[in-house]
Formats: sequence, structure tokens, C-alpha cells
Amino acid sequence: MCGIMGFSGNLKNESSVGVVLNGLKSLEYRGYDSSGIAYYDNDDRLIKYIKKAGKLINLSNEFSCALPLNSDVAIGHIRWATHGRPTDENAHPHIDCSGNIAIVHNGIIENYAALKNKLIKKGHRFITETDSEVIAHLIEDYINAGKSFYEAVRLTSACLLGAFAILALDGTSKSIAAVKFGPPLVLAQKGNNLYVASDISPLIEYTNDVIYLKNSEIAHFHEGKLDITTFKGKKVNKTITKIDWDASRAAKSGFSHFMQKEIFEQPARILDAFSSRVMLKEGIKDNVISLNKIKMKRAKKGFNENTKNNSFNDVFAGLDISLEGLKLTKNDIVNSPKIVFIACGSSYYASLAIKYMMETICGLPVIVEYGSEFRYENFPISQNDIFVGISQSGETADTNSALEVAKAKRAKILSITNVPGSQITGLSNKGVIYTHAGPEIGVASTKAFTTQLLCGLLLALYVGEKSGLMPRYQWLNSQNIFKNLVELPKKMEKILFMDETLKDIAKKYYKSGNFLYMGRGILYPIALEGALKLKEISYIHAEGYPAGEMKHGPIALVDENMPVLFLLSNNMLAPKTISNIEEIKARGGKVIAVADYEPEIDGLSDLIRIPETIEVLSPVLYTVPLQLFAYHIAALKGTDIDQPRNLAKSVTVE
Ligand code: F6R
Repeated sequence: MCGIMGFSGNLKNESSVGVVLNGLKSLEYRGYDSSGIAYYDNDDRLIKYIKKAGKLINLSNEFSCALPLNSDVAIGHIRWATHGRPTDENAHPHIDCSGNIAIVHNGIIENYAALKNKLIKKGHRFITETDSEVIAHLIEDYINAGKSFYEAVRLTSACLLGAFAILALDGTSKSIAAVKFGPPLVLAQKGNNLYVASDISPLIEYTNDVIYLKNSEIAHFHEGKLDITTFKGKKVNKTITKIDWDASRAAKSGFSHFMQKEIFEQPARILDAFSSRVMLKEGIKDNVISLNKIKMKRAKKGFNENTKNNSFNDVFAGLDISLEGLKLTKNDIVNSPKIVFIACGSSYYASLAIKYMMETICGLPVIVEYGSEFRYENFPISQNDIFVGISQSGETADTNSALEVAKAKRAKILSITNVPGSQITGLSNKGVIYTHAGPEIGVASTKAFTTQLLCGLLLALYVGEKSGLMPRYQWLNSQNIFKNLVELPKKMEKILFMDETLKDIAKKYYKSGNFLYMGRGILYPIALEGALKLKEISYIHAEGYPAGEMKHGPIALVDENMPVLFLLSNNMLAPKTISNIEEIKARGGKVIAVADYEPEIDGLSDLIRIPETIEVLSPVLYTVPLQLFAYHIAALKGTDIDQPRNLAKSVTVE
């Protein structure tokens, strides 16, 4: 998605252009196809700009002799084309007719055609095919009508329909304005310097104290003074959010790609996600009576808790799950007819696995919906429903819009996200669970996905414990969960030590044109995620399927050129999955199995043996070899692993 960076201030040895160029480099991971910078040249007393199609290097080459040092204010942009081809001309910034206003924009202006026609009739000259250019001319038009720069920006913002994060630079006052309606904008003020960007990654180099603009807010920075108002002109006092990420986490640290580094970071990030949140507690048995009461109450409502089969008293030792900031009460849970997860992409697949965890642990019905579909469905929403939004960035437009629909119906909203202060956090009236994965720079999600799975499990345990619905099964007793959680990072490390083996397996398959990934139960979403990773970074067509569905269609694709990767766990479904494997082998297909035991199958092409854990934690472990496999295939193919073609890190428009 597009990325915006702006700077206004005075640095001894660096020009505003240097700061902005550097910031755009940190935003590269978002995905883009052109870039540009506009700055005020103090010597020539005018706005200058350069914009280029292609990678950022094309833009920085334009400044190759020297960066213009005498410049205190600059705005920059990386563009992910929506309206108009990715050419030099269509790249941002866009300039008004006078050359005195420059703007950069992330989002879509839905009413641009009508506005453009009006402005053309008034004599404005348009140069590009974009929807964004209209913003520069509209600001100019208000200035021509006698408005100040800030007023012109404010009135312009009120005219626009769609989604927009805008930075505007005024050559007359040498000030900048930032406008948010939809896509994110974050500000950081350090003394007389203001930094503003689409996300925190370019800012953490300078400070950890940031201000998130909310929708319909404008920030105006002039002569060292920052004013924030609403589109209606009402002054707003903002709070500062402290970000606990450090700049070094956003570096490759010796790995070839950010994605590779993020895969290898996972044991540490998983530990961060649970270590301070889970404790084993003793002497909880006293609560059993009241817990049973809740169960009886729920049984009257028609829930089948299957209590008879559980030796409830024996297994209940208790876990203390502290999810800071979560405001979900026992009443909220017991009275909720359903829990609905909303997400997109990998976060959607994480939700599917979490559905399985919640249903297993709490016995509550869970529905998982794509944000992009949900917002246009006639989904029945009750104010007692609990909605959980999952989003790494917290800025995915489809996920957030769907949650807004639920919120408008007074449903209870909570979220699992990686980014403090992101838009989803503002929607979450029942609190936020942070994944604590740190900055994820590789476009393909890795550590964010596994920490989402982990946080989903914590949520399931929290809900189960708080409501008395846990444990439903003997093997889910608290000590067992605790023991397996504690062992998880080490087991992940063991899989990471198999990196060379996975590279060797990748060498056999990187020329394949297609792949099938099969899993069952809680591992089915992991098959989907594994196939998505392969597609995204290696551009090999891959499909994830529930293994039980194989005979209902995909088996027609199987021949000697179709590798099929199976996720196999030593549980009651194993014999059925092994039958599926035999069916593939009988048709000449090559089978790779990822298994947590030594299955008795002849003629497997490859076996990736991983450590065993309890079922609700198994998705975390099974994900890791699939990430490494996709990574090595992509590396062998020489694709742009961290910024795969056409992809954006956070999809902030519909
Ligand atoms: C896949 C991937 C995407 C994101 C999706 C949602 O590797 O990264 O599919 O998962 O765009 O993004 P978030 O989680 O930021 O809402």
C-alpha cells in the first residue's frame, strides 16, 4: 500500500529530503511501484519535486550528487497504483497550478471525477491520471478564494469522499498539514521537529512517543507549533502513545531477508507473547461448584457442555491468564450467543485455527468471517455477540469496516493486533490483546501469524477459565497446557535447526508449477497458510485443502507433476489422512509429509519430522517448516521475498 513520510524542522547535518528519503526506505516493505519527494528549497524559495516510477533507488539516484541541504520541510510518498498506471507522471507528489502546493495521498478519492470536472471548468490544469491530483487543486482553489492554507486544507478534506491520508506542503507559509480519514497517519514531535508517516517504522529511529491521528482530524505544523483539529475546526488534545519497539528490531541483523529474520525470531516472540500472561494457579477446586452452576445455566439455554464425560474435579488446577486491558466479563461471555472473528488473509487463517481452539476449550460457537465479505452481508448481529478482530497492522480497511458495522449494532468488540494505537484498537470497546511480535517488515506474515495463534489460544483459555467452561477434555488440563506452552519456544528452535534440510527439500521442488497442501482439523487452516506463503513469495500456484475433501475434486489434479504436502498429526484422524496419502501415491503424485511422529508410510518423497505438542498448540509448530519451505523455494527462484510483486503489507483501502 502507499506510504507517506513528511518532515518539518531543522537538523544540523541533515536536510529534510534526507529524512524523508530515509523514512520512505523504512516504508518500502508496504509494497509500491513508484515514489517521489517534494521539498521547499530555501535558496530558490520555491517547492521542487522529483518523482520516479519503479523502486526507491530510482528516486535516490536523482539526488545522487547531493541532497539539497537548505531545505527544512519535505513530503514524500511511495505509491501502490490504484487510479492510473505506475509512471513517473502519476507518482506523487502532485502539484497545483501555482506550484505552491504539493500533496501526497494514500487512499482513494471516490468523488474525484466530479471535483475534477468542476475544477477544470474553473481553469485548473490537470497533468496526471490519478484521483489524488484533485486534492492539490482543491486546496489551491480555496486559497485563491482567500482562505489560509490550514482553512483550505480543512475545507478540502470536508469535500472528499472515500479514504484518505494526506500530507500537504504549502510553499508560502512553509508549513505542512496532515489529514486522516481512513488510512493511518502517525506523528512524532521532537523539539521543533515534526515527523509524520503512514506507520511507526520510520519514526522509531527518532522517538518512541507518537501521536496517532484519528479519522476526521487535521494536524497543522507551522514554525515549530503543532495544532490538531477536527474537520469542523474544533481543537483536539491528543495523548501520546509510547511504542515499546526499538529501532534495531527493524533491521535485518545479518539475515538475507527480513522474512528470514522474522521466521527465526519466532521462538523469542512467542515467549514474549505468553511469558508474562500465563501462570499456573493452585487451589482452584473451590470454584468448581460455581463453575458447575454456570454450566447448568448454560445447559438450560441449550448448550451441550458434555459435562458427564469430563472428570471435571480431577483435572481442574487452573491457569491464571492475565490479558492486560481486556475488559471481557464473565457475564459478557456467558450471555454471548456467538463469538465472531473478523480478519483478512493470514489473519483470517489464524482465526480459523483459533475457532477450533475456542470450540475445543470453551464449547462456544465461533464464526469466522472475511472482513471484505462481512461488511456487505446481512449477518444477524446481536448486542450480546462478541466480535474479535484480528489484524497484524490494525489498519486493514476491510477488517476495520466490518468491526464498525458490528459496533454500530452495539456488539462487544475486542481485537488481537501487533500495532499499538492502530485503528483497530480504537474500535475495540472490550480491549486489545497485543501480539508483541515487534515490527514485521517482510510483506508475507510470519511471526505476526504465529503470535496471533498464541494470543488466540490465550483468549480461549481466558474465556474458558473466566466462564467456567474449561476444561472440556482430560488432555486439556492446566498443567499440561502450561508445560507445553513453556516448551514451545524450544520446540520451534528445533524446527529452525532443520533449515538446511528444508532447503534441500526446496531444491527438489522449486521448479514445480503447482502445489497442494492438505490438513485436517486444526491443521487445515495451517495448510491454507502454508499454501498462501508459497503463492505470495514464490509465485507458485498452491492450494490448501481439508484432506477429507480431496476426493471431492482436487484429486483430479494429481499426477507425477503435482507435489502434495500433508500435515499429519498422531491423532484419531491420522489413519484417514494416511489413506489420502496412499490415494495420492497410487496416482503418481509426490508426497511431502510434515508429521509429529514417525508414520508408517512407504514411498514418501520427503518426511519433515517435527516435535510433538498438544493439539491446540500444534498450529504454531506446523507453521514454521511451511514458512521455511516457502522461503527457500522463493530464494531459489530469486524472487523479491520481502516485497513480492503486487502485494502490500497493509491493505488500507477496500
Ligand atoms: C499474508 C499477509 C496478508 C495479511 C492480510 C491482513 O502473508 O500478510 O494476507 O495477513 O493482508 O493483514 P492484517 O493482519 O494487517 O490485517
